[in-house]
Amino acid sequence: MHNQHINSIAIIGAGTMGNGIAHVCALSGFPVRLMDRSIEQLKIARQMIEKNLKRMAQKQRITPDQVHSTLARIQSYTDIKQAIVDVDIIVEVVPEQISVKKAVWNEIEQEIDPKRLKQTIFATNTSSISISALAQELIFPENMIGMHFFNPVPVMSLVEIILGEKTSEKTFKTVERLTSNLGKTPIRVHDFPGFVSNRILMPMINEAIYALYEGVAEKEAIDQVMTLGMAHPMGPLRLADFIGLDVCLNIMKVLHKGFQDDKYSPCPLLIEMVDEGHLGNKTGHGFYTYTV
Ligand code: 3HC
Repeated sequence: MHNQHINSIAIIGAGTMGNGIAHVCALSGFPVRLMDRSIEQLKIARQMIEKNLKRMAQKQRITPDQVHSTLARIQSYTDIKQAIVDVDIIVEVVPEQISVKKAVWNEIEQEIDPKRLKQTIFATNTSSISISALAQELIFPENMIGMHFFNPVPVMSLVEIILGEKTSEKTFKTVERLTSNLGKTPIRVHDFPGFVSNRILMPMINEAIYALYEGVAEKEAIDQVMTLGMAHPMGPLRLADFIGLDVCLNIMKVLHKGFQDDKYSPCPLLIEMVDEGHLGNKTGHGFYTYTV
């Protein structure tokens, strides 16, 4: 099965994951067209990429020249039509709501040069949305695939590649090769709720929250059990804060609904914290406190 050559990449959405993906694509030598409707978000993304590249240069992982050449490969756009001109793959990284993602893909299908539609790969970065459901209304559902990156993208070596019901083998092979060219390891999985990563990670985090809720131990103790006893780089409660408690709750709901099994019921403490707006690092309050 042949794969297709990727020369340039559009990334739709310049939040934390979008800027991380732009960082690794540009550092690997690909011209990147980064799009967000907010100019402010694009500015923040560029600052983050520069900061993270400089951090890598300080640690002598890359040279100062690579910092400049990587930044020079990233063009910013607020218009979707301009951002997707002549690219081989579009990586969509917008918020985790199926209606929002579907609206973006509909717009892309309308705005893309019709001659390129059949050959362009549509990749969605998602932690829990079904690839088959997202591809349902597309003209070429065989071109859609999930590329689940992990935060912080420049550091984490996994990309979980999710095949929807109609994803073609050619699309998979192309994305598999691209992922390797980004210096990441592609792992092929099928389209089940939570895929593999979040089906395992989120129940563990939820269970850690239950342990806190039921008074089994203090938060620091729960985290230390997992860092010292299981060599996790972060304890599950600190990781939940890092991921975002709203994101964790949303994924537990996807698992609960998708499998119709109460073993995936979100812990009441998680629901309460999200209701109170304590979402972790991004709001300054979660299981721990942070400076925002
Ligand atoms: N860009 C570039 N480099 C970065 C970086 C970034 N954004 N963040 C950290 N680094 C580098 C540092 O420079 C350092 O490099 P070195 O090894 O050359 O010294 C290395 O990463 C470690 O960073 P620090 O020394 O600052 O801090 P830590 O050792 O505490 O590591 C961490 C920080 C990498 C975040 C580590 O705690 C970790 O791996 N935590 C777990 C993260 C995780 O599980 N992520 C997945 C979340 S789940 C997800 O994303 C999926 C979703 O669907 C929920």
